[in-house]
Amino acid sequence: MKTNIHFGILALWLIFLLVPLTSAAIPLSNSNNQHNFSSGAANTNPTTSNPHPHADSPDNLVSPGTSEICIFCHTPHNAAPQSSLWNRRDPDSMGSFPVYGGQLVIKGSFNVTDATLHSQYNSATFPYPNGASKLCLSCHDGVTAIGTVLDGTAFNMLNASNISAMNDPRLVIDLAVSHPISFVYDSQVLSDVSQVKPGQYRLPTLIDVPLDGQQRMQCTTCHDPHEDTRSEPHGLPFWRHNTNTVVSEFEDVCNDCHLADKTGPPAPVLHNM
Ligand code: HEC
Ligand code: HEC
Ligand code: HEC
Ligand code: HEC
Repeated sequence: MKTNIHFGILALWLIFLLVPLTSAAIPLSNSNNQHNFSSGAANTNPTTSNPHPHADSPDNLVSPGTSEICIFCHTPHNAAPQSSLWNRRDPDSMGSFPVYGGQLVIKGSFNVTDATLHSQYNSATFPYPNGASKLCLSCHDGVTAIGTVLDGTAFNMLNASNISAMNDPRLVIDLAVSHPISFVYDSQVLSDVSQVKPGQYRLPTLIDVPLDGQQRMQCTTCHDPHEDTRSEPHGLPFWRHNTNTVVSEFEDVCNDCHLADKTGPPAPVLHNM
């Protein structure tokens, strides 16, 4: 009897440990991953049934595509200098991206005692946008061709050559009405912000809400562009904080920096609202 109870507890633990493995995100190698643009990708977005852009076959000798998956974002050779062996040119709309439209400490809307804005938001030090966000916006600006990579090779794309052609306005990210990105968020910036908004902000401590190598918040702080998570119970797209626990997958990310208990939960104003 005692052994059975122990066995039952052990079995429960095994189920507990195995659950996260059974409900995995869709990896890039799967043709249904929305960031798989290879010739082998599915013809439609499985969730919306909208046409999904992807390359023609490499065997099309007149205007070839590619069966490679990573090549739309990475190259092993002659990569752009930013990081992670990027294979994308700067977005065509570089120089015309707006900053967040509302008032923010990090954009200088308020007087802080130390007049230096340590966040470097839209500054000469870090051209704006920067880091991995620039890579995202080289497609999500709606203008830049999805299939044109760093050396100018333009793969022949089926269904849509850029995101605007997909007729899904949500995919074109308007930075004026999106969460601010490409700003340094370190203890100096926190101290600036806290002068105006005391007790409302803190530095992120969860391992899966990462700042980049220069302590900047980027699109990749919230999103992992490799793992398609939209079919997960929380329903958030390419969501980095993907623990399969269903509850608070969204709030935990916000509350890692926003002290919701002091101010009420932050308004979910994120993109294109
Ligand atoms: C839609 C764009 C996109 C595609 C497609 C893509 N990646 Fe990435 N990858 C990124 C971005 C953006 C980063 C940088 C993340 C950062 O700087 O925080 C990255 C980073 C990486 C890294 C560095 C570690 C990490 O996760 O930060 C590896 C390794 C990697 N990618 C492998 C791959 C492989 C292998 C493929 C093809 C199966 C692939 N990627 C396809 C966008 C992409
Ligand atoms: C090579 C072009 C390209 C790059 C680079 C790229 N994306 Fe995308 N992304 C797309 C396209 C196209 C879709 C829509 C595919 C579809 O609907 O079938 C998409 C879909 C998405 C979605 C899901 C949208 C939804 O409706 O659920 C998110 C989130 C996303 N991308 C975020 C990012 C982030 C963050 C980055 C940078 C780390 C990035 N993307 C880089 C082309 C790109
Ligand atoms: C603070 C976290 C956060 C940051 C930073 C962030 N996103 Fe998102 N993103 C979300 C959430 C949450 C959603 C789900 C839809 C929503 O609530 O707006 C989303 C949805 C999307 C979508 C799907 C379209 C939509 O509106 O539903 C795309 C595409 C996207 N993000 C791209 C990006 C790009 C590109 C960047 C950087 C410029 C970025 N995101 C930065 C949290 C974030
Ligand atoms: C890595 C830290 C970090 C994460 C994660 C984060 N934020 Fe923010 N957020 C900030 C900072 C810093 C500001 C700028 C504050 C300022 O300068 O006034 C900001 C600003 C905002 C603003 C505008 C604030 C205002 O006073 O108008 C909103 C709304 C917001 N965030 C919502 C969210 C939501 C919703 C999430 C989760 C999906 C989230 N944030 C995740 C750090 C973060």
